[in-house]
Amino acid sequence: MQLNLHRAELTVSAVQPRQYPQTGVPEIAMAGRSNVGKSSCINKLLNRNKLARTSSTPGKTATINFYNIDNQLFLVDLPGYGFARVSKEEQARWGAMINTYLDKSPRLRGVLLLVDARHKPTADDVMMYSWIRERFGEVTVVATKADKLGPTKLQEGLALIRKTLDLGEEDTLIAFSGEKGTGKEELWQEISRITGVEL
Ligand code: GTP
Ligand code: MG
Repeated sequence: MQLNLHRAELTVSAVQPRQYPQTGVPEIAMAGRSNVGKSSCINKLLNRNKLARTSSTPGKTATINFYNIDNQLFLVDLPGYGFARVSKEEQARWGAMINTYLDKSPRLRGVLLLVDARHKPTADDVMMYSWIRERFGEVTVVATKADKLGPTKLQEGLALIRKTLDLGEEDTLIAFSGEKGTGKEELWQEISRITGVEL
C-alpha cells in the first residue's frame, strides 16, 4: 500500500465551513442514520479501535470530524440523522451542518451511504441516496453490521436495500462489518476509485 494507514489522525472537528481543513486533500464522507456504524467503519478501515469515538447510544458523533490519512486523504465522519431522542432543534442544527458540508466542500469526491444490513432503508436514507446520486452520478452503499446476519438473511437484507433505494447499475453495494472486517478491502478499493488516491 502506498497510503500509510499508520499515519492517521483526527485533524479537525468542525461545525462551520471556515473550520474545514484547507489543505486541498480529497475528502470522502460517511453518511447514514445515527448508530448505523459510521465511526466504527472508519476505525475498521484504519485498523484502529478507538480513533473515531463510537457508542451504542445514538448521537455519539456531533461534529464533522476530518481524519487525515497520510496527508493524502480525509475520511470525514458525519453526525447521524434520524435520531428521534435528540430535540427537534438539535436535529435541525445537525441536519443543517451536514447539508452545508455536503453542499459547500469543494474537495468532497464522494459520499458513502451507510445503511444497516438488517433494516429496510428509511425515507431519510432514500433522500440521502437521491442527493448523492444527483451530485456524483453514482452511489456506494455500505450495508453495515453484516456480522449480525447469517448468509441467507444477509442476502435478503441486501436485496431489500437494493430494492428500497432502487439501486442502478452504476451503484455499488458492499456488505461490511466493523466488527469482523468483512468488506474492508472492497471498500478501500472503492474509496481509491472514487477519490483517485492510490492505495
Ligand atoms: P452516530 O455517531 O451516533 O451517528 O453513530 P455511528 O453511525 O457513528 O455508529 P457507531 O460507529 O458509533 O456504532 C454504533 C454501535 O453499533 C456501537 O455500539 C458499535 O459497536 C456498533 N456497531 C457498529 N458497526 C458494527 C458492526 O459492523 N457490527 C456490529 N456487531 N456492531 C457494530
Ligand atoms: Mg459516529
